[in-house]
Amino acid sequence: MSLRSTPTTHKRTCWRHARLATFASGSPWGWIDDGAVITEGAQFAWVGADAGLPPDLQVDDEVDLHRALVTPGLVDAHTHLVYGGDRAGEFEQRLQGATYEEIARAGGGIRSTVAATRASSDDALFESAARRARILMAEGVTTIEVKSGYGLAEVHEARCLAAARRLAHELPLDVRTTSLAAHALPSEFAGRPDDYIDAAITWLAGQQARGLVDAVDAFCDTIGFTPAQTERLFTEAQRLGLPVKLHAEQLSDQDGAALAARFGALSCDHLEHLSARGIAAMQQAGTVAVLLPGAYYFLRETKLPPVAALREAGVPIAIATDHNPGSSPALSLVLMLNMACTLFRLTPEEAWRGVTVHAARALGLPDRGTLAAGQRADFAVWDAEHPREMAYRFGHNPCRRVVHAGVERTMR
Ligand code: NIG
Ligand code: FE
Repeated sequence: MSLRSTPTTHKRTCWRHARLATFASGSPWGWIDDGAVITEGAQFAWVGADAGLPPDLQVDDEVDLHRALVTPGLVDAHTHLVYGGDRAGEFEQRLQGATYEEIARAGGGIRSTVAATRASSDDALFESAARRARILMAEGVTTIEVKSGYGLAEVHEARCLAAARRLAHELPLDVRTTSLAAHALPSEFAGRPDDYIDAAITWLAGQQARGLVDAVDAFCDTIGFTPAQTERLFTEAQRLGLPVKLHAEQLSDQDGAALAARFGALSCDHLEHLSARGIAAMQQAGTVAVLLPGAYYFLRETKLPPVAALREAGVPIAIATDHNPGSSPALSLVLMLNMACTLFRLTPEEAWRGVTVHAARALGLPDRGTLAAGQRADFAVWDAEHPREMAYRFGHNPCRRVVHAGVERTMR
């Protein structure tokens, strides 16, 4: 793209004198110490050292960032943002000794959120999800994934996916939707999980025809669905050309990661109980490992995901909030940077790649997650000198400005 006098309908803005963590190369942080980015419409037209800007550059606007830090917009690759009610009471029960599994088996857990979700109007579902989305956005998040999974009936699953789509229409935010009908067994199907999976399989084509779904997920675990049930669902997803991802090896090893990898899964998520076999399968398939320190922390898990083995195998690692009312009511992806380092021993740079370039890959979005010419112009400006500071401090939001698709958001 020429930066000289090419006539263009798109506004060009040059953001100058920033510390850039581009994550666009293998060099540490993709660091550029005195950098500049030029946006043209919704894309970056140019990224590099400020001193390397073309001398006869023509732009519509110039902004001096006075050495502030600029990173790619953050990508939260795993959320369950749309639901009714909350589970604060269940939290109290757990503090008194009940386990997450016991509560789920007694009909609480996910199923109590299903009841609250079904009882919520479309507007109430949208409004509560939008409130949560705005909190994520205030920390530089520009793309999120949102799963269904609290409707568990055709009409309610569709309402949840539609609420997620509406977020992208009404907020300056990109949203990828994932159908997670195979999240828990609704009480109407008690004792008949195979019949429920048969039903969920029939919903997918309609969700796709209505433009409601970008990917398909399942909860493959002792309190979720079996590998055989997951495989039947994934076979239909594959037939429809929808990519898959999986809640895998969260509470037990079901060999779900290897199953998902056979379907070329975009990601396997959680992974505390992941085996060497699962790691090898993910590596071969190019599947991203999405680690969720919020759920690990909140459920007081003690089994760590096999970070060193994932690293050694070269499996890309992403970090997400897993925001949901039961296992991770977290609304801070920046806090997850700290938790990924303190709990999972990721390096700050690994954690950052996990909420940018690798998170984008977990969503099948190669057009974002780095600062580079041709990428979407999604970036955050921080009151910090270096991104390692955000992995170090917690309970603190130094995000000062956010540009989404080339347009600066007004921060409230
Ligand atoms: O990602 N593991 C299954 N699903 C969610 C929790 C859902 C809930 O408890 O409401 C998770 O941890
Ligand atoms: Fe989840």
